[in-house]
Amino acid sequence: MPVEFISLAFANASTEIKPIPSGPTVDPDYLKRYARNLDDYGFDYTLQPYDSGGADPWTMGATIAAVTSNLKVIIALRPNTVYPTVAAKMLATLDQLSKGRAVVHFIAGGSDQEQAREGDFLTKEERYGRLEEYIKILRQAWRSTEPFDWDGKYFTFKNFSNRVRPFNGSTIPVSVGGSSDEAYRVGGSLADIFGLWGEPLKETKEQITKIYAAAEKAGRTDRPKIWVTFRPIIAETEELAWEKAHRTLEALTASRAAGQLPKNPPNAGAPQNVGSQRLLEIAKKGEVQDRALWYPTVTATGARGASTAMVGSPQTIVDSILDYVDLGCELISIRGYDNLNDAIDYGRYVLPAVREALTGREAETKQSGDHVVQQVDG
Ligand SMILES: Cc1cc2nc3c(=O)[nH]c(=O)nc-3n(C[C@H](O)[C@H](O)[C@H](O)COP(=O)(O)O)c2cc1C
Repeated sequence: MPVEFISLAFANASTEIKPIPSGPTVDPDYLKRYARNLDDYGFDYTLQPYDSGGADPWTMGATIAAVTSNLKVIIALRPNTVYPTVAAKMLATLDQLSKGRAVVHFIAGGSDQEQAREGDFLTKEERYGRLEEYIKILRQAWRSTEPFDWDGKYFTFKNFSNRVRPFNGSTIPVSVGGSSDEAYRVGGSLADIFGLWGEPLKETKEQITKIYAAAEKAGRTDRPKIWVTFRPIIAETEELAWEKAHRTLEALTASRAAGQLPKNPPNAGAPQNVGSQRLLEIAKKGEVQDRALWYPTVTATGARGASTAMVGSPQTIVDSILDYVDLGCELISIRGYDNLNDAIDYGRYVLPAVREALTGREAETKQSGDHVVQQVDG
């Protein structure tokens, strides 16, 4: 099975473990350097995440596309922030500008408080209903050569006509992230890609089964590709990696206590989104789970965002990733805590080794297949 790698490209040098509160929010040279590194080191995608107070993913994504050759740009999109016909044209334009490298990742919205900051007062169930309608509108806008009307529960318009086609003429990959039953239903029935945070193999398998069941229930003959997300803490040896992990945790705890992490303020209360709630429950079962998953980073940050660490030498990280590939995950998202340096380490020691292991397996399968054919022939 092919595997592709995702990371994040950041707009400035501030990190969760070394926040630079006084630094520029958007440093164009840093963003370009970061994106070029991801491209050169063989990452396949970069996610441009969304939060109400953060830099705009669309303009960052267009900048990244302009300075890279292969890297696909995943725009995180909350349906309350852009009217769907506008988003359809923005995505198709980005797809044309990047020659087919645009992807959209939908966030229904996991927190009422965060949604209210930008005028969204729907319930979570309604937000997922709106997302469902939104995805259908995008696909019709990309496909339809004729003007069309829409008369739905959340959107109504007349005679919309789109002249900007996706680069391949028909569509752009649509991803959905979340871990609630609503996320499984909408993502399972409509998404090309389904994004998950880092849970142990057993729990990930359970989620995949639910997503596939939702796809089948919706009458699909295909299934969404599964994306899983980890925060590897990597060093030359196991011992050095664990020392680095503990240093990382201390720094994370200190920045959070100092209120320097805007998305992870202390006393933020329990998260409303199921994905974060699940991570916090899993963290209670033990600090280290499976081969190398480490949950103290989840607890220390209140599971606000992807926070499951994966600790070890390059070989341990490679083996852990292969465990998820064997489970059926085709997209592996990895970003560290020392963002750019970690991305370069992954590019040097993880991506090539995972790819080599998979090529080796393929060759072995082919060889044993040839052997069987020879035996049959003989
Ligand atoms: C891979 C992945 C990426 C995500 N990126 C974002 C993001 O950029 N911004 C954001 O607000 N939420 C992001 N989320 C969070 C969820 O999409 C969000 O909380 C969801 O709307 C509701 O979650 P639930 O269905 O688990 O309750 C991401 C989730 C996943 C799995």
